Amino acid sequence: MKPKIIAGNWKMQGSLQEITNLMREVCSNFDVLNSPSVQVIVFPSFVYLHTVHQLLQNSPVLLGAQNVNEHVAGAYTGEVAASMLKDMRCQFVILGHSERRHVYKESNELVAEKVQRALEVQLTPILCVGELLEDREKGRTEAVIQAQLQAVIDAVGYQAFQQCIIAYEPVWAIGTGLTATPEQAESVQAFIRKLLKQGGTELANKMSILYGGSVKPDNAASFLSVPGIDGVLIGGASLKAQSFVDICKVGIQS
Ligand code: 13P
Repeated sequence: MKPKIIAGNWKMQGSLQEITNLMREVCSNFDVLNSPSVQVIVFPSFVYLHTVHQLLQNSPVLLGAQNVNEHVAGAYTGEVAASMLKDMRCQFVILGHSERRHVYKESNELVAEKVQRALEVQLTPILCVGELLEDREKGRTEAVIQAQLQAVIDAVGYQAFQQCIIAYEPVWAIGTGLTATPEQAESVQAFIRKLLKQGGTELANKMSILYGGSVKPDNAASFLSVPGIDGVLIGGASLKAQSFVDICKVGIQS
């Protein structure tokens, strides 16, 4: 069985001291993090990548970034290129997070360009997809997710998805305390796999699909036990060492 992915997206939160303390406490649980049943990844802000990379020496926890620019390099003040993330030892990058799509108005096409840049330097994109509450209420969940995925398929083709992870994060469940039901998560992952089947059954079956949105230690098992859900993308609960490690433990038992 493939390991469950337990990914902590710290967003724009924490100070240098807080993040150092968090990492030290998380890393003191070596046996949990080192279990073959889980793959743990943390996503600090760009400015803390170097520090966190150093804190992760001798730890099985992997490093990722929260965003990347859509250009290879150039005069783009304040932006970060995929090659720079590689330099900082990132192996993953979160792309198309709902906060990027909705707060920073990133279009499906822009997200697709970012996926392309990440793949060019062998960074694994964690491609986030998900619907607004209004979309769900109007029965548009699948159409929204299809459009989000289709833009990436058009840009990089189906086979590139072998190097991607998808995270289903319903926008209405992020930071709200609301979660999708396990049935809703199951149905969306099945829909995503159905779409990817056009690129081959093996591709669709092997794809890692995560759930994200108010995952906490006490509800993690309900998602990690859903058939076809291969892990969780955690916001708030990944900023507390105990709750993050507790979710890792749930991952080991699932
Ligand atoms: P919360 O776990 O805080 O709802 O955030 C989820 C998320 O956005 C992870 O990327």
